[in-house]
Amino acid sequence: MNIIRSLSEMKKWSQSLRKAGRTIGFIPTMGALHEGHLSLVAQARSQADATVMSIFVNPIQFGPAEDFRRYPRPLEADCAKAAGAGCDVVFVPQKSDMYPERYCTFVTVEDLSGRLCGASRPAHFRGVATVVLKLFNIVTPDIACFGQKDAQQVIVLRRMAEDLNVPVTIKVCPTVREADGLAMSSRNAYLTPAERAAAPVIYKGLQAARALYDKGERKAVRLSQIIEEHYRTAPLIKKEYIEIVDTISLHPLAAVASTALVAAACRTEESKTRLIDTIVLGGSL
Ligand code: PAF
Repeated sequence: MNIIRSLSEMKKWSQSLRKAGRTIGFIPTMGALHEGHLSLVAQARSQADATVMSIFVNPIQFGPAEDFRRYPRPLEADCAKAAGAGCDVVFVPQKSDMYPERYCTFVTVEDLSGRLCGASRPAHFRGVATVVLKLFNIVTPDIACFGQKDAQQVIVLRRMAEDLNVPVTIKVCPTVREADGLAMSSRNAYLTPAERAAAPVIYKGLQAARALYDKGERKAVRLSQIIEEHYRTAPLIKKEYIEIVDTISLHPLAAVASTALVAAACRTEESKTRLIDTIVLGGSL
């Protein structure tokens, strides 16, 4: 496996691969890799000739009071995991190359970026869309794989790729979970033992909503209510939002007529960790 740090070298590698008629699968990450990331590698490998993973903790998607500085950066262990999963390249760009002095171009996906997580993280999706477009331009992938847990991210990036005519297919892969149902996330490492023990309630609430939906309930208010009831039983887990929205526009739905995204965000009481999880009812993303 190659570790490439320079933007020009990464571009050269991709160009030579494309010249040879081979396709590229891409997994953009911020490192601190877990099984969820490795499942994206497996997906990319099954659909493309070569697999590139980027590892870059993107400063512009973090708010001023967020965890950019303390975000875990176990680069050596990450490279070993990426190699074990069969990546051909790990691309590790430097901050000074991605955002040199005088950098001032940003991508804003209007409307979608202000909804759900965007309400409390106002610059987050602008930072995500900007870095992912830059990475797409450098790596030139045919497909790019993202996890369903970050459903809003996928929906924002699909819109960005479509609106800006980026020739990439965005694949959504199922959320990988711990044995007790907690969605895998690099941020789970911040949880105190008591928060970790309580955190599975986030998915349990979503599963209860699915069970109610399977019994025929379609009213969004009833489905949200049952999730909220679960969250109220866990004092260490504070709800930020529970929303039932359209999977393309992210507009709230009064009732689930076809496909709906059920999204929840919580903040833990002790370590102040923000955890999100999602399910899709009546279809897929
Ligand atoms: O999901 C993430 O890890 C990040 O938001 C991404 C897509 C790598 C952009 O920095």
